[in-house]
Amino acid sequence: MTKYANLINDLKEKKGGIIEAFHAIEKEYSYLPEDAIVEAAKTFNVSTAEAYGVATFYSMFSVKPRGKNVIRLCESAPCHIAGADEVFDALKRELGIDVGESTEDGLFALELTECVGQCQATPVITINGKAYLDVNPAKIPEILAEYK
Ligand code: FES
Repeated sequence: MTKYANLINDLKEKKGGIIEAFHAIEKEYSYLPEDAIVEAAKTFNVSTAEAYGVATFYSMFSVKPRGKNVIRLCESAPCHIAGADEVFDALKRELGIDVGESTEDGLFALELTECVGQCQATPVITINGKAYLDVNPAKIPEILAEYK
């Protein structure tokens, strides 16, 4: 049994299964390790180049190691107008990292995203896909504490 078999083998026959497999691998490892992409290519019977193409096409996937908990700040207009910049500054201050970076303890990665469909309660951040609404700088330490 190969290293990632438990995450990807069941999806072998499914249409678009490789994308689901990459989601599963990311959930477990926070990024797509090179050997996982190679294994997925074999499992889904595509070339390694094609598998890399899928892995790098979608912005939610990362082929570089990153923090376990992926924080995404929405940078679309409604969130921007509602004060996303202040939230962004608070996140950077609290974590000591910039966008595209991960904390040294490997706990957090910070990224930007387009609208996540929660514009009724801006600004919005997501952590591992869970949305936090009406966020302001004062709420950041409390939100991050849930993941420490
Ligand atoms: S603009 Fe941020 S959630 Fe829609």
